[in-house]
Amino acid sequence: MSDPGKAAAGRAAARLVEDGMTVGLGTGSTASCFVEALAARVREEGLTIRGVPTSQAAERLARQSGIPLFPLTETTRPDLTIDGADEADSFLNLIKGGGGALVREKLVAASSGAMIVVADESKLVATLGAFPLPVAIIPTGWETTRARIEKVFPQVPVTLRLAPGGSPTITDDGLHLLDLHFGPTITDPERLQAQLRAVVGVAEVGLFVGIASRMIVGRPDGTTFERTR
Ligand code: A5P
Repeated sequence: MSDPGKAAAGRAAARLVEDGMTVGLGTGSTASCFVEALAARVREEGLTIRGVPTSQAAERLARQSGIPLFPLTETTRPDLTIDGADEADSFLNLIKGGGGALVREKLVAASSGAMIVVADESKLVATLGAFPLPVAIIPTGWETTRARIEKVFPQVPVTLRLAPGGSPTITDDGLHLLDLHFGPTITDPERLQAQLRAVVGVAEVGLFVGIASRMIVGRPDGTTFERTR
């Protein structure tokens, strides 16, 4: 059974979807609660929507659930994207990518009319960074990219994310992932994002700055509350 807080947030978000909308479908356990609740509305209310998945996993779940899917194009920009987060601060700046889908998640969210985050209370933090920051990098010469990052942030441990067999993780877009262990010290996520993006070999950073405008937080008792920016 899914976590009651995550399920409550997912259900509340599904109620925000209107007939005819194009909807960005997030990745992760909380976003999956949303996709399942949305699919129930499609079945029970005959809601007509178009889904734009943020990962192959989201695509699989949506397909099994009967949500019509479209790739991200100029004509399928979502009206609304609902996605989870690994951490969110009080400005709704986020760390995402714990599930490895940060590149497509950011492409879909940045192309959307609005992004709403769904999460349980554990994701709310005063300062980002206790959750290791995912950074997607080009596989070619990845060790040199890691070394460049370590040179900019000498105090920060950097680990290569491995797949279960022990080889480097390959994302849906064919990238490797580094996890940067800043600790809860990321007070200026916009500056950090710019610093990391400037490193040769970095494809995308799992910081979402100024993208989410609203967050639905589910409590263990099944109630929800909201934060807006
Ligand atoms: C996927 O890459 C992530 O950005 C997820 O949105 C994030 O890890 C949250 O996942 P959960 O809802 O499973 O905690």
